[in-house]
This record gives sequence, C-alpha cells and structure tokens, in this order.
Amino acid sequence: MLDTGPILYVVTSVLALASLAVVRKYLDDHSRPPLPPGPTPLPIVGNLLSLDFTEPWMSFNAWRSTYGDLIYARIFNKPILVVNSEEVAKDLFEERSNIYSDKPQSFIYEPFASNFNIAIMPYGDRWRLHRRIFHQTFRQAAAPACSTMQIRSAHTMLFNLLQDPANYPSHIHMFSAMFVLSMVYGYEPKAKGDQIIHNMEKYLELVTESMTPLGIAIMETFPFLLQLPSWFPGATFKRASVKCIQAGHDIKEIPFRYVEEKMSTDDAEPCMVTDLMNKMNGFEDDVIATAIKEAASMSFGAASDTTTSTLTVFLLAMVLNPEVQAKAQAEIDRVVGKDRLPDFDDRPAMPYVDAILRETLRWRPVVPFGIPHTSMSSDIYRGFFIPKGIFVLFNTWAMTHNETKYPSPNEFKPERFLHEDGSLTNDTMLLGFGWGRRSCVGRHIADSTLWIAMASILSTFSVQKALDEQGREIPVIPKFTTGVVVHPEKFPCRIVPRFLDGSAEMLRQMTGLGQP
Ligand code: HEM
Ligand SMILES: *[C@@H]1O[C@H](CO)[C@@H](O)[C@H](O)[C@H]1NC(C)=O
Ligand SMILES: *[C@@H]1O[C@H](CO)[C@@H](O)[C@H](O)[C@H]1NC(C)=O
Repeated sequence: MLDTGPILYVVTSVLALASLAVVRKYLDDHSRPPLPPGPTPLPIVGNLLSLDFTEPWMSFNAWRSTYGDLIYARIFNKPILVVNSEEVAKDLFEERSNIYSDKPQSFIYEPFASNFNIAIMPYGDRWRLHRRIFHQTFRQAAAPACSTMQIRSAHTMLFNLLQDPANYPSHIHMFSAMFVLSMVYGYEPKAKGDQIIHNMEKYLELVTESMTPLGIAIMETFPFLLQLPSWFPGATFKRASVKCIQAGHDIKEIPFRYVEEKMSTDDAEPCMVTDLMNKMNGFEDDVIATAIKEAASMSFGAASDTTTSTLTVFLLAMVLNPEVQAKAQAEIDRVVGKDRLPDFDDRPAMPYVDAILRETLRWRPVVPFGIPHTSMSSDIYRGFFIPKGIFVLFNTWAMTHNETKYPSPNEFKPERFLHEDGSLTNDTMLLGFGWGRRSCVGRHIADSTLWIAMASILSTFSVQKALDEQGREIPVIPKFTTGVVVHPEKFPCRIVPRFLDGSAEMLRQMTGLGQP
C-alpha cells in the first residue's frame, strides 16, 4: 500500500504555510494602523481638484476643522502629509528628528543646478558640512559683527527711498541684496545694473520657472524629455536645463573669483568666504572648498527673497494701519530723538517696534507652506501609520492664524506681543522659520536685518496711501503672488520724509554717509 502519509504531510504543510503567508499579509495590512485622516481622493488626480491651487495652505487650514492637525492627502499619485499645528510639528520634526529631517529627492535637481541647494539636500554628511558653513556665518553670536553692514545697507536704502520713493520695491530689494552680498563676499553691489546681482537673479528665475510642481511632474513621468538634444523641436525642458546649469556655474564661480582675487592682493573685506578660506588655510581640501563655494552661492537665494518679501509686507501693514505706524514713530522719537537714526543699542528700549516685526512675520508669513521634508523610515504617530518616504509639509499659515493663540488673526495687531505694561511677551515668533534640524539657519540674522530696516524706515519716513488726481486716497487691496516664497504685489503708496527738513543733506548728516 502506498503510504500517502508523508506526501499528504508535505502538501498540507505547503498549503498551511501558504495560507499562513496570506493570513500574515492580511494581518499585516489590517493590524497596521490606519493612515491619518484626509479628504477622499479621486482616481488619478487625488485631492488636486479640491485644493486651492494658489494658496494650498488655506485649503489645509480649512480642512483642519474636519480632519485635524495631521492630514493625509494625495496629489496625483504622490501621498503627502500636512502638519497643521505647532504641537504636531514639535512632536515630529523635533522629538522625532531622526525620522523627519530628510528632504524629498528628484533626479531633476542636478539638470536644474539645484543639487547644491542646502534646503533640499538629502540629510547626511554633505548637508551637515553645508549647514556648518552657514552656521559659522549666520549664527546668533556672529550677528553683532555684521551690524555695520546691516546699518550701512539700511542707510543706503533710506537715500534711495528719499530720492525715488515710487520705486520702493527695487530699493527694498537692493537692501537685501547688498546686505547678503557684503556678508558673504564682502562685495558692495553697484547702485544700478550690478552684474553679480543680475547673475543671482537670473539663476533664481530660471530655477523657479523650470521647477514648478507641474514641470517636475512632467519630467519625472517622461524622463526622456531631458535626454533630447537641445536643438530638437519642443526640447523646452532640455534647453531650460542647459541655461540653468550655466547660471548655476556663474553664481558659484564669478563672485568666488572676485573674493579670491581680493585675497591674493590682501585687500579682501572680512566676510563669510574669506573667513572660511582662511580657517582652512594649510590643508587643501577640495570637498570643503567646493562646499564653501556652493553654500556662499546659495545664500543670496535663501536670504534675499525672504527678507525682501517680509519688508514689503511690513510696508503694506504700515499703509493699512496708520495708527500702528504712528505709535511706533512716537516710540522711536522718544527713544532716539529727531537728530540721529536708530541703531541696535536702541532696540531694548523700543518694544513696540519689535512687536511690529513679530506681527509682520505672523500676519503674512512669507514662506506659508514651509519647504517639504520627507520621512526616512515608517512611523506610527497618535495611532496613525506614516509611511516611509512620504512628503511631510508644515502649514505655517495655519499655525500663525490659530485663533486661540492669535484672536482675530487677520488683523494686524502688534499689541498681541506685548504685556499690559508694554513689555514684550516671550512669543518670539519663530513659527515662520521651520522646525528641527532643518530649520532656517539664517533666522537670527534675518531678525536683526529686518529690525534695523524697519526701525530706520519708521524713523525717517511715513508710509501713506497714494492720492489720485482729486487728492483722494487710493485704497490698497492686498494681493500676493504664489510659490515657496510669497510676495505682496506692488501697491500704490507715498513714502514721505518725516525728519526735520526732509533733505538729502540732512539725511547725510544723520547717517554719516557721503553720497552713496
Ligand atoms: C524672513 C526671513 C526668512 C524666513 C521666513 C525663512 C524661512 C525659512 C524656512 C521656512 C526654511 C525651511 C525650514 C525647514 O525646511 O524646516 C528655511 C531654511 C533655510 N534658510 Fe531661511 N528664512 C529667512 C531668512 C533667511 C536668511 C537671512 C538666511 C541666510 C542665509 C536663510 C538661510 C536658510 C537656509 C540655508 C535654509 C536651509 C536649512 C537646511 O535645510 O538645513 N534664511 N528658511
Ligand atoms: C492653537 O493654540 C493653542 C494655544 O496655544 C493650542 O493649545 C492649540 O493646540 C493650537 N492649535 C493649533 C491647531 O495649533
Ligand atoms: C511663555 O510664557 C507663558 C505664560 O506667560 C508660559 O506658559 C510659557 O511656558 C512661556 N514659554 C517660554 C518658552 O518661556
């Protein structure tokens, strides 16, 4: 008789194992906690259609009442997670920074000269080196050393505003550019048509034009578009990439060469590049030298746009809130007087100006949706499953417009940062600067740069509504661009001198500057 025992045994065991695997898989899926809540996605497009495309932070802020502080959504086939509250942001980006400090990667960073941008670099040794380089220059302790440059840039802006007030956006822009370039390269840009500013702008323009969310989606879906020869009809992306690479080369090499030449004749101004190059004198290390060059070239993009936009928001707030402006000016006149300009020593005695700075950052955060992070491993948080590699965004807008913490959040009220006795609260408004290990490395320098610009403008000018032909005030309706950094669109206003005789000569005496 055939003994079927062993065969049966093998067959049943195989079946059992197989079914166990099925059961295990089943159990895996079902014992895995659910994904965080979010709006129901449609096939293919996901939640794209229910999003406000120009202001996605508003959509996620509105969804907070239904889905809470952590929302899962899908844009096409990309799952994203949006953090809507400070508490969750702290838990994930700070308490679990070993998971949430990475940045999403794409093969298109390199063809678009963005692989040396620290803000989107993968978490790791190269990022750490870049971060250290930035930190050396921009950390808080270094701030007093650069106050001369900040003040000089601010005073130059005052002359420009006096001589050509209608062009205020370009003067604010020049202020930010002059401040960064002097800190990083010891370079003072020309008043008009400066080549280095032009190169920096050109690079930023090319990169932001090409790396739109739609552009990225198209190139990632059809990578061959970047393989086409540039002459090929329709090879738009390829041509854009060639231009970006050239522009990226220019911003790394040209200003760096300027410093090297100055250093070789010993008349370089102290700055980020000379300082770091001197420190590594003696040991030639290409990796470090390249990182210095790359980090230096990225400073302009990181610092200039955010500073420019914040100062424009400040002017907008001043036009719309004359009583706030008057209060600040009364404070400045009391502390500084009328025959000199404010400097950093005056800061502790002028809490109201500081409150305006904080309220400016809160009212219209210029990076409202942060810069996306990504998770390095899967995680479970508050009972929800967070997959590895998901994009994690933080909704700064939602946090700075939290009605419990900031009642009537759309109103510009510096008083919310002051105690009854007029002293400042301990809310220093760091909300707009990101979280954890990837938080803004320039936040301290941004704080003092913005302060000196605001205090200087308030002490010398009043920002008022423009008048039409009949002498009636032209109403200002705030409008904003969209993007990673959001800017107010140009609005009409009058910038009127309020110092003694309003003359350039008087300003020259107060600033101690010659004709800049
Ligand atoms: C109002 C002014 C500014 C605002 C609102 C701002 C905001 C931000 C935000 C939201 C991030 C992303 C944080 C994250 O991903 O978690 C960031 C990163 C960064 N910021 Fe700023 N920033 C400002 C000014 C500056 C300045 C003046 C510098 C000077 C160089 C600077 C340098 C950087 C750098 C290098 C990073 C990348 C950090 C990293 O990935 O490790 N920022 N900033
Ligand atoms: C709003 O602020 C309050 C008070 O600080 C805080 O308890 C709450 O968690 C905040 N909500 C969000 C969504 O950030
Ligand atoms: C700030 O002050 C509030 C109360 O005024 C206090 O609850 C909070 O812990 C303080 N925060 C810090 C960081 O000191």
